[in-house]
Amino acid sequence: MSGINYSEKIPNNVNLSEDRTLQRALEQWQPNFINWWDDMGPEGSTDMDVYLRTAVSVDPQGWAQFGHVKMRDYRWGVFLNPGEQDRKIHFGDHIGEKAWQDVPGEHRANLRRIIVTQGDTEPASVEQQRHLGLTAPSMYDLRNLFQINVEEGRHLWAMVYLLHKYFGKDGREEADALLQRNSGNEDNPRILQAFNEKTPDWLSFFMFTYFTDRDGKFQLCALAESAFDPLARTTKFMLTEEAHHMFVGESGVGRVIQRTVNAMNELKTDDVAKLRAAGVIDLPTIQRYINFHFSVTIDLFGADQSSNAATFYSSGLKGRYEEGKRTDDHVLKGNSYKILSVEDGKLVEKEVPMLNALNEVLRDDYITDSKGGIERWNRVIEKAGIQYKLTAPHKAFHRNIGSLSGAKITPDGRVVTDAEWMAKVGEWLPTNEDRAYVASLMGRVVEPGKFANWIAPPVMGINRQPVDFDYVRFN
Ligand SMILES: [Fe+2]
Ligand SMILES: [Fe+2]
Repeated sequence: MSGINYSEKIPNNVNLSEDRTLQRALEQWQPNFINWWDDMGPEGSTDMDVYLRTAVSVDPQGWAQFGHVKMRDYRWGVFLNPGEQDRKIHFGDHIGEKAWQDVPGEHRANLRRIIVTQGDTEPASVEQQRHLGLTAPSMYDLRNLFQINVEEGRHLWAMVYLLHKYFGKDGREEADALLQRNSGNEDNPRILQAFNEKTPDWLSFFMFTYFTDRDGKFQLCALAESAFDPLARTTKFMLTEEAHHMFVGESGVGRVIQRTVNAMNELKTDDVAKLRAAGVIDLPTIQRYINFHFSVTIDLFGADQSSNAATFYSSGLKGRYEEGKRTDDHVLKGNSYKILSVEDGKLVEKEVPMLNALNEVLRDDYITDSKGGIERWNRVIEKAGIQYKLTAPHKAFHRNIGSLSGAKITPDGRVVTDAEWMAKVGEWLPTNEDRAYVASLMGRVVEPGKFANWIAPPVMGINRQPVDFDYVRFN
């Protein structure tokens, strides 16, 4: 069951060849996907052979096989974690009933929406990152970017399979539309705003893969609890791929910090101008990038009070993070939860029914998880003997959705006037000057074992290869 059949046009472990209609429909979608990859995938990468991992089985041990491949020949396919015998629904109004192997009519529209929204983010991030290869700080980093890009393409396949198999004609139309919307396109943009923003430089890329791919992790974890069993099994396998994306972000930012603190010690200075003259990224700029990416990403969890969130939970479509490990009744009818709002110029906590606050619950779990990496980045600074602490901004800072939307709140959680906000925002969010400076550092460094001046080499290579391995062959 867990073995993947690579002899078919579309690699899969779902016995695709037994459903000729579905197989034919997906085989018709496949060339459109390749066309999209050629048009919107990594720029100028067609001839490169990239040291990529490919799934060979969905077993937790050794699912990956490494080798140099052209990205357009990557074996994108359909991989589901093995099913659990007699799996039961473990939350919401249907708790204790058998998990669904098909889509119940009354939940069809909501499930389709959830799958389309998730599916839309996958190709969107490939589009956002398509120019980054031109300014890679090393061959090692270039390979990691491409690995993430092909796996986001695979995640699109995961959602498209569900749309084709379970949603008939509507599903096929939605699958086509996933290749028609484009990140940042004025007429036909991606569904979620964060996926229409640019990823203009590698510091943004590492921040994105640390913070925004982690949003992906939390959404996938919530869907991995779903009563709709094929969705749960699909997202479980996607999560094993997602871990590498967050690793690239965390280690990437960590290496930027390492290089900066090395320069601070060599030059014995924390003067921003001197550090910039030395071509490294000063810690206050890194803090402003954190503030930006953190705040934009926590908006992705949606409004703090949402009747949709309540419906998705009660009907069993989407659980909480680690639903199975929680010890409450998993129905949550009389429970409450605290959310924030601004009243009379102050931040106040309000108790609201938990079912309506489930976006906030997921956001809070995300915040706890994302703070872990910031602490690990602080250890790099500490180890270098430098007094500086990076922090996550307050949850209410720079928000654009829900009851905090548009409120003027500092990174340490103080409500301020519009005038104070305007005067200080340049200390809190990346300025045009910061962005221009970071952009000025971006140049292509791709000789094996060489690294751009603004980033330290990694401690280890990929798949136990040396750091100066030829991860990408340019041909
Ligand atoms: Fe993804
Ligand atoms: Fe990802």
